[in-house]
Amino acid sequence: MSEILTSVVIFGASGDLTGRKLIPALYNLYRKGRLPDPFQIVGVARSAYSHEAFREQMQQGIVSFSGETFDNQLWRAFAERLWYIRADAAAPEGMDAVLEFLSARENHTGNRLYYLSVTPTLYVPIIQNLGAHRMEREDEGWCRIIIEKPFGTSLDSARELNHLVHKVFDESQVYRIDHYLGKETAQNILFFRFGNTIFEPLWNRNYVDHVQITVAETVDVEHRAGYYDQSGVLRDMFQNHLLQLLALVAMEPPSSFNAAALRNEKVKIFNAVRPVLIEDTVRAQYEGYRQAEGVAADSKTPTYAAIKLFIDNWRWQGVPFYLRSGKALAKKSSEIRIRFQRPPLMMFDAGHPPDESFSPNCLHICIQPDEGIKLSFEAKLPDSASETRSVEMAFDYSTAFWQCQIPEAYERLLLDALLGDASLFTRSDEIEAMWGIIDPILQGWNTPAAPPVAGYPRGSWGPAEADALLHRGGQAWHLRCGGQ
Ligand code: BG6
Repeated sequence: MSEILTSVVIFGASGDLTGRKLIPALYNLYRKGRLPDPFQIVGVARSAYSHEAFREQMQQGIVSFSGETFDNQLWRAFAERLWYIRADAAAPEGMDAVLEFLSARENHTGNRLYYLSVTPTLYVPIIQNLGAHRMEREDEGWCRIIIEKPFGTSLDSARELNHLVHKVFDESQVYRIDHYLGKETAQNILFFRFGNTIFEPLWNRNYVDHVQITVAETVDVEHRAGYYDQSGVLRDMFQNHLLQLLALVAMEPPSSFNAAALRNEKVKIFNAVRPVLIEDTVRAQYEGYRQAEGVAADSKTPTYAAIKLFIDNWRWQGVPFYLRSGKALAKKSSEIRIRFQRPPLMMFDAGHPPDESFSPNCLHICIQPDEGIKLSFEAKLPDSASETRSVEMAFDYSTAFWQCQIPEAYERLLLDALLGDASLFTRSDEIEAMWGIIDPILQGWNTPAAPPVAGYPRGSWGPAEADALLHRGGQAWHLRCGGQ
């Protein structure tokens, strides 16, 4: 048991994320006995709450978002460690109040995890203010900062933000969050690839025909139109979540399972992505998007995008990677599909064109929902002479791990930050390399060569142009897990 008080200080504590994700995740960690002892959680925001009112608000969040695990007695013990400070953390006197509160409760020194869950325009003022109060210092205790996405809106702004962050914090103290990396199924990609011997030998240009990565959502922009119309799907989903999934699928095995080795390999992949051709991109808006409150009437902001990219290294030379994501689509489904090549000689099902009767092997990694992995292969159709049918071997979390509940992504990420493990967080050079892929596409969309903004009906699978992108390569989009 450590003697030093550990404080999780959440800036932006009255916001949605705190009640929906952060506090329920911390409560679950407490329930599992994984939080350091002693600890406290300090919410900071400008809204007027008493400690008690804040606790009540957070209790509602836990009941709604992690309902089954709510236990009144446990909650009361947890709530005693929950505090609220009404302060503008971007103003000097606001941070005075935060510092005063922390110092009064720490016995000369404490461990501190700051969480920036505020609007991105406040990142810099709050970080500068932490610096001005010398609140980044690590004397006997440690001090870390989690920064929410979006981290910048372009390569230049991300560089600038990194520069300003580094004026106060050392990179080893900085945890840039991407909640996709906290998802069990995303973490499992590396375990699947590098904890087994049978898949990795096939995981390359000699056997893989192409890769599809889909992150489809049914929700539209909801109440976030003001943010979303400035951002769009490339910044909101591709620059972070889709590229991280790409890296997990495409990276080389790291020499060990630690933050430096893992992130080095990811950076190498991002740097090896060939500049995306503007004709290999599709952008689109769902019908009715421009009529939403907060959206400009002539907005060109895409709510859907699809891109084709290549990775210029030995493993992946010539293998297309297709990435797509959109809002207001037919189903919520995040999935990676690895399609293997056809056998060099097809001797079965004589008399039929091979395309009609035969499906090449596919591996589907279902990130969510229906978490699991499915491998399809051909089998002889019983009572036929030489016909084949596609069948499947499946691993479902709900069957294989029925006794475990899949934890929320924020649980893993908060715990890792508390333990000082940055493996699932994005490093400064990594985030810049990711922007280096996205920025030229955003710029290309501002030129006359840009593809027009297509439309798609709500509840569909996106625009026809995205289907055409694959058809040109003789392929089609396909989902296996809870999807198409
Ligand atoms: C967020 C985006 O990062 O991820 C949202 O800002 C999106 O627009 C969300 O809805 C999707 O996350 P998940 O975990 O529901 O797939």
